Amino acid sequence: MALIPVMPSTKLKNGLEVCKIINGMWQVSGAHGNIEPQRAVLAMNNYADVGFTSFDMADIYGPAEDIFGTFIKSRGVDMTGIRGLTKMVPRVGEMTREKVEKLVTKSMHRMSVDKLDCLQFHWWDYSDKRYLDAMKHLRDIQVDGKIKELSLTNFSTEVMEEIVGNGIPISTNQVQFSLVDTRPQKRMAEFCEKNSIKLFAYGVLCGGLLSEKYLGVAEPKPHELITASLSKYKHIIDLWGGWALFQELLQVVHTIAEEHTVSIANVATRYILDQPVVASVIIGCRFGIADSDHTEDNFRSISQTWSLTKENLATIEAVQNKSNDLFSVLGDCGGEYR
Ligand SMILES: NC(=O)c1ccc[n+]([C@@H]2O[C@H](COP(=O)([O-])OP(=O)(O)OC[C@H]3O[C@@H](n4cnc5c(N)ncnc54)[C@H](OP(=O)(O)O)[C@@H]3O)[C@@H](O)[C@H]2O)c1
Repeated sequence: MALIPVMPSTKLKNGLEVCKIINGMWQVSGAHGNIEPQRAVLAMNNYADVGFTSFDMADIYGPAEDIFGTFIKSRGVDMTGIRGLTKMVPRVGEMTREKVEKLVTKSMHRMSVDKLDCLQFHWWDYSDKRYLDAMKHLRDIQVDGKIKELSLTNFSTEVMEEIVGNGIPISTNQVQFSLVDTRPQKRMAEFCEKNSIKLFAYGVLCGGLLSEKYLGVAEPKPHELITASLSKYKHIIDLWGGWALFQELLQVVHTIAEEHTVSIANVATRYILDQPVVASVIIGCRFGIADSDHTEDNFRSISQTWSLTKENLATIEAVQNKSNDLFSVLGDCGGEYR
């Protein structure tokens, strides 16, 4: 009888357990194709039923929080392991307790929960220091019991240091981290380790470009990049070293994947999950759009029947060493948003 795979989890600072592979819901925001909410809820249930029970969203991802709310209601009593991680992405401006609390309550209402599992805060402009006001209020709201894990997204190491220095304990920072974008290894990993902070990694599959589908394929034209995610990471690849170098990376990763009888996506995911600072990866799901179910393949990314060898890592690094340094080009994590 075939073994049913089990999704491993990570325990965060305040005890929240999240899946090692989290389902990303930026893909339901509308920028990745027309979304059918009922179909999305069905697909979410299919993922949850086999163990993919953690979902990442944001208040600015179109209907994502509402769809999660409908999903929660559709599960009835079967809530085992279900986690909803959201983000607060306010317009830069005054951050009063009343305003921040209103945003928290709105997300809770939309998601149909009475407490947020994890709230990840984003800020667009470091020259306006009112992110500190927002974070202090969020910390108070956390102490009041409405937020389990207080986290950040797209913050640089320097500003994380400032926030932690203001006495605000942070559970995680959600940042881009992939075979192409290794910026978190530069400064952030060390700081996080010293402060018991973990990273959630996104962009792990470069929107799907890190897969067999793009191996040996001519450089896609802008109109062929049919999701916002594909366009975003094609741009990152251009900054990193271009399509020819990316093909070199894909070929190397493909050879490694064949050695272990897994997929390119599996190798790309395992490389990130093996980083000690990473709590989990967030893999985008086109729920209610494409409904391409990747659960079976993505389970192989966490299978203990194979692992990346020193030789595998050396061949990957040899290609990475030919690339431009994204840290110099874009700055520390999140620099591309500012
Ligand atoms: N904090 C931020 O600023 C930020 C920014 C970006 C993303 N995120 C988060 O991270 C999530 C991840 O999204 P992303 O844009 O970074 O994309 P991604 O996870 O790098 O790529 C997602 C795409 O990969 C494909 N895929 C998944 N598993 C696969 C497999 N086993 N084999 C081949 N292809 C596979 C799917 O394509 P198909 O659907 O075509 O099959 C999917 O659309 C988002 O939903 C969001 O939650 C956060």
